[in-house]
Amino acid sequence: MYVNFWYVAATSENVKSEPIKVKMLGQHFVLFRDSDGKAHCLSNVCTHRGGSLVNGKVRGDTIECPYHGWQFNGSGTCIKIPSIGKDGKIPSRTRIDSYPIEEKYGLVFAFLGDLPTSDRPPIMDVPEYGLDGWKPTIMFNEYAANYERSVENTLDPGHNEFVHPTHGFEGTKEDYKVQEYDLDETEYGCGFTLTFQSPALKDGTMSKLRDFAGNLEAGTGHFGPHQTWTQIHMSPTNWFHQYTFRTPVDETHTRSWLVNMRNALLEDEHDEPIEVRQRAIAEQDIVVLEELEPIVAPPTNTKENMMPHDKALVRYRDFLRTWDSKGWRVDTDLVAATKNKVAYAVPSPGRNTAKGWVIDAIPTLTDHHNNL
Ligand code: FES
Ligand SMILES: [Fe+2]
Repeated sequence: MYVNFWYVAATSENVKSEPIKVKMLGQHFVLFRDSDGKAHCLSNVCTHRGGSLVNGKVRGDTIECPYHGWQFNGSGTCIKIPSIGKDGKIPSRTRIDSYPIEEKYGLVFAFLGDLPTSDRPPIMDVPEYGLDGWKPTIMFNEYAANYERSVENTLDPGHNEFVHPTHGFEGTKEDYKVQEYDLDETEYGCGFTLTFQSPALKDGTMSKLRDFAGNLEAGTGHFGPHQTWTQIHMSPTNWFHQYTFRTPVDETHTRSWLVNMRNALLEDEHDEPIEVRQRAIAEQDIVVLEELEPIVAPPTNTKENMMPHDKALVRYRDFLRTWDSKGWRVDTDLVAATKNKVAYAVPSPGRNTAKGWVIDAIPTLTDHHNNL
């Protein structure tokens, strides 16, 4: 799990004036909307005596701790300590971390890290979103598997044949072989496109998208450690593009928001049948992912056997190593070993300018590979 990326904390419609608790990167956060409708994401630990802010109330534009009533505004600044009276001076070291927020695609993204604006890896783009002729739908999944294993599953063209009965022939064709492919790269990830034979879809709404007997063209790739895109061209004109934004709840649990874009069957009546099919496909992957051992992919490829079709996921692991080397990977072993004794917060950009933070910054690794 990495700091310094944008993560979906919730859907926009789920962030209201009532505070909600969200666990990301193994830490707790509180989200609420102020009276202007602006969403805020703060570390959930009160700097007085460790109260859980989410159990407090939103008062005006602040969140009030349920233990002794300290009030924190959306920037994380403590603006009221009732016990010292209205003329009491509030120490600056009472502040808590507040994270940058962006709302896009109907989702609330929080930047969980301390990089300044210009250095932040961007949110994966959904270029079709809002364009005429494209219909978006949002899907949500939650599962007991590591998010990196899930990214690797998306990047793996060898599993479709066996995990998704609707996509392949379950290995029964004598001449089955995964095609070789070349990788395209960006600063934040790699991807590839394949053209392959796929059985005709016999029924259901997706079969209407596939009104074409030729080969299917599918591309997929990752953007950052936690986001993937998949583009399936059912026919030369009917396209289905899926953008998956994963948030690691912790190392063993993942929440995924999928922005599905299609340029055919645009009427609302097709939303549900398409979602039912997409949900079934996701469920087929989850069944496999939740049983993988070890739960977290090993940091060295010598502990597994890689085949040519694993090329993209091998490259993905290289990208992870570059983010490790920046010191962005959470030291989950240390966090677990100290969890009853230390409260941590993901450091926010405010830590670059203000001094005096009482909550420890979450420890990160610079050399994951050598740590084992
Ligand atoms: S613990 Fe939050 S006000 Fe005391
Ligand atoms: Fe899959």
